[in-house]
Amino acid sequence: MRIGLLTSGGDCPGLNAVIRSAVLHGIKTYDYEFVGIRNGWQGLIDRNVMDLPRQVVRGLARTGGTILGTSRTHPYDAEGGGPDNIKHNMSQLGLDALVAIGGEGTLAGAKRLYDDGIPLVGVPKTIDNDLRGTDYTFGFDTAVSIATDAMDRLRTTGESHHRCMVAEVMGRHVGWIALHSGMAAGAHAILIPEVRTPMEQVCQWVKQVHERGRSPLVVVAEGFIPEGHDDPLAEAGVEASGRPRLGGIGEWVTRTIEDMTGVESRSTVLGHIQRGGAPTGFDRVLSTRFGMGAVDLIHAGRYGRMVSLKGTEIVQVDLAEALDGLKEVPAHRYEEAKVLFGR
Ligand code: F6P
Repeated sequence: MRIGLLTSGGDCPGLNAVIRSAVLHGIKTYDYEFVGIRNGWQGLIDRNVMDLPRQVVRGLARTGGTILGTSRTHPYDAEGGGPDNIKHNMSQLGLDALVAIGGEGTLAGAKRLYDDGIPLVGVPKTIDNDLRGTDYTFGFDTAVSIATDAMDRLRTTGESHHRCMVAEVMGRHVGWIALHSGMAAGAHAILIPEVRTPMEQVCQWVKQVHERGRSPLVVVAEGFIPEGHDDPLAEAGVEASGRPRLGGIGEWVTRTIEDMTGVESRSTVLGHIQRGGAPTGFDRVLSTRFGMGAVDLIHAGRYGRMVSLKGTEIVQVDLAEALDGLKEVPAHRYEEAKVLFGR
């Protein structure tokens, strides 16, 4: 059996650990051969591949990024894509099955290809933790730990200057990174896309903290939209040069807090730092187990399925389960965190 591995969509700490464990387990347990497909689906279209013998994957569990490269190419929309071309290329490359490692977009493409007769299995990944069908995705724990560390640092400089510090974290559609890192760092307000908190409320929390002589710490997910402001960045307008006046929602929240409370405030956008570097121990273990589980799925002929974490066990679910809408932060989880806002 010759298996093609590909990583697609945004990169994520833990991708290399999946590649490593799939290859080591597949060679050792089943005597399979592995081929790395470069740059996601694009590599399958271009037949751009690399061999993955045991020595190539050694030591990979502790590294960030993906040795295969990635892209956001869609297997149906790209020129040269579609199931017939992909089947032809797989046969030219001698591939019997594929492991597609990716988030919602990648797994949706994988599901369609499977429905069109291509033997493949999925491995869920995203730092956002917004995929259904699995309790956690790898990359999330790493992103939370990086964001928590950043907020601990913001707090000491904020306290020295008696400022309000605002950290913008990733999460266009869901607020899992903001919720977990904010709870871990003891933020005084957590602002997420799922909850349209009014700025008056945010300012009240900030003032409570400031009046007690503390430095307020606010975490905001990049997709947050406050109540009463459907497009805050458009409201802020453009500069004479035509560039947007504000870079992102974190900056808008910071300016609004300063204007409404008079508390000197600073904003920091953590951006892609949250996705870079080595995975945490938790993510290395989860990715390693997912990689082995994906190879077991192929060995059992369970195509159209993906590996998933349920509780502490690695199980398998239908790819469709991951595609049933994004996994948002439930109201009770937000309410639980909110008890400690302001203070
Ligand atoms: O989905 C992962 C993610 O990191 C999001 O949190 C973020 O909004 C987006 O990707 C950024 O995408 P890009 O790397 O293409 O700028």
